[in-house]
Amino acid sequence: MKEENNVINQEKYIEKIRELNNGKNLKYSILTMGCQLNENDSEKLCGMLEKMGYTRTEDVQEADINLFNTCCVRENAEDKLFGKLGELKRIKEKKGTIIAIGGCMMQEKHITDKIKESYPFVDIIFGTHTLYKFPEDLFTAMEEKRKIEDVLDIDGEIHEGLPIKRNSDIKASVTIMNGCNNFCTYCIVPYVRGRERSRSPRAIIEEVKELAKKGYKEITLLGQNVNSYLRVEKEKNIEFEEYEGVNSFATLLHALNKVDGIERIRFVSPHPKDFTDDVIDAIATCEKVCKLVHLPLQSGNTRVLKEMNRKYTKEQYLELVEKMKKTIPNLTLSTDIIVGFPGESDEEFEDTLDVVRKVKFEQVYMFIYSRRVGTPGDRMPNQIPEDVKHKRFNKLKELVESQIEENNQKYVGTIQKVLVEGTSKTNENMLTGRTDSNKVVIFEGDKSLINKIINLKIVSEHMWYLKGNLLNKECD
Ligand code: 5AD
Ligand code: SF4
Repeated sequence: MKEENNVINQEKYIEKIRELNNGKNLKYSILTMGCQLNENDSEKLCGMLEKMGYTRTEDVQEADINLFNTCCVRENAEDKLFGKLGELKRIKEKKGTIIAIGGCMMQEKHITDKIKESYPFVDIIFGTHTLYKFPEDLFTAMEEKRKIEDVLDIDGEIHEGLPIKRNSDIKASVTIMNGCNNFCTYCIVPYVRGRERSRSPRAIIEEVKELAKKGYKEITLLGQNVNSYLRVEKEKNIEFEEYEGVNSFATLLHALNKVDGIERIRFVSPHPKDFTDDVIDAIATCEKVCKLVHLPLQSGNTRVLKEMNRKYTKEQYLELVEKMKKTIPNLTLSTDIIVGFPGESDEEFEDTLDVVRKVKFEQVYMFIYSRRVGTPGDRMPNQIPEDVKHKRFNKLKELVESQIEENNQKYVGTIQKVLVEGTSKTNENMLTGRTDSNKVVIFEGDKSLINKIINLKIVSEHMWYLKGNLLNKECD
């Protein structure tokens, strides 16, 4: 009840700002860095701002509020933020725009210290646990004309009922849990997003039913560790209400599979160590659950995996893949890989290449290890020189690209079910959609096909997309 009051309280600030802004046609810009969870948080910030009477602009010069939702998983996000802030300083001097920075990076003290010292023109700093309070922070900054710093170290509660302005009318993200308890030694997330806590089954199911009513066809369930959904609650005897039989990730998939109107269900990211048989069975038997599974590998070497605190070996990962391939027809896999973790030798890196060769991933998200202040990885003595990391990265990239090319060939001549998402960004006369395995397909067709699942014959492949032809028949 207290949580609901917090959100209801914010409605009052939304209303107050709306009154202040009345008739002014004010605009906001938002830049989102990082993962889909951040994108989903930004959709909530946009929802609040639109309710306050602001409309979105992509032009930072035109905006009355410039908002950043930051990520801190890798160093390049920091460079990007500070570059942008330099640019905004001039706009601030000319126009007096409000600058607000939120999200993961704001949970790091050395970053907020740097902002206060070197970019004192920033008006609002807010963290991951205080996002829901953005209306209040904005109102205070406007009314009292002072700088706001609203960052909490303690774990936030889950706030239901925030307004939301989604990026798409076809695909929607649904956050099912916040935080992470795994403490992989390279990763900053557990420090900035706090401990794992799951949303209630009722809140998730009702949100998905609502999305279906609005015409959404695809949902992606989000969390740092989705397949441990409700685990902490059960371990710690934290009471939760079972709703439509949901008491685990597998039962959640089964329940959402029954929601009329939703055609596709995806989820990111699961952890290999928590990939229990009931989840594998749910993917196999729920026809709406896409058969592309993202299974982060990080490294293919058992010693490196141990140092990373991943809690599985190379062999266990490969066994899991085998089991999934046997149980789930048409399974495809994608993964995340980090190269150049402290202490990784050339031979150990070869193990990563070996796993990539064996599994033949549909897609590999490749990252160069980035030292994150406060993580055990940053304190490890045997950091890898940048040139070695880059060499390994390029070697992995070459292998992955050759595999993707080979894999793309397999699509040519096949018929694929494609969810049509809109017109192609590069060619107004073409439509674009995605296969179950998340491959982009471009094809010629009428705009009335948008938001439908149709059959397409794949006629050619072009590395990052496929070309298809209509069969003039919608799927059942
Ligand atoms: N350096 C490089 N990559 C990282 N990731 C997480 N932390 C780091 C880091 N310090 C990658 C992991 C994770 C993905 C979201 O980002 O591969 O799965
Ligand atoms: Fe980071 Fe590991 Fe948690 Fe993923 S599971 S968010 S990599 S600590």
